[in-house]
Amino acid sequence: MNMSNTEQTLSIIKPDAVERNLDNEIKEMFKNKGFSIVKEKKIQIEKSEAEKFYKVHETKPFYNDLCAYLSSGPIVVMTLEKENAVLGNRELMGATNPNDAEEGTIRKRYGISIDKNSVHGSDSVENAKIEIDFFFKD
Ligand code: CMP
Repeated sequence: MNMSNTEQTLSIIKPDAVERNLDNEIKEMFKNKGFSIVKEKKIQIEKSEAEKFYKVHETKPFYNDLCAYLSSGPIVVMTLEKENAVLGNRELMGATNPNDAEEGTIRKRYGISIDKNSVHGSDSVENAKIEIDFFFKD
């Protein structure tokens, strides 16, 4: 019986972390947890693209600031792969608000605030496919 469940998930290293040159340290944290970085690129996106990416949040009060923020500077987008990658990435990132994140997580170590929380990760396998396509479909 083949019980393996290799998944891919999308990770974004956000402007606050790229600006502080933390991208290599964050990539090392992923690799140390067994993730392969199968695709990656450093880009800066337009606010209109951020609005499309975060469309699920469009009714939230923080939507405008969130989109302005994600497009405010360079980001690193990556497709990560490993067994149960979606959940594993969420565990490694820690809680959305760095104040609530556990020791050893990326957001605990590097996050500044709920907005400047250093990384984004897909919240489900279904959204991971959509988010990977968003950045890496030719
Ligand atoms: P992220 O995982 O990128 O998904 C949406 C982002 O919205 C989230 O991380 C936070 O950085 C940001 N955000 C700002 N305010 C809130 C809030 N009150 N609840 C959830 N996310 C928020």
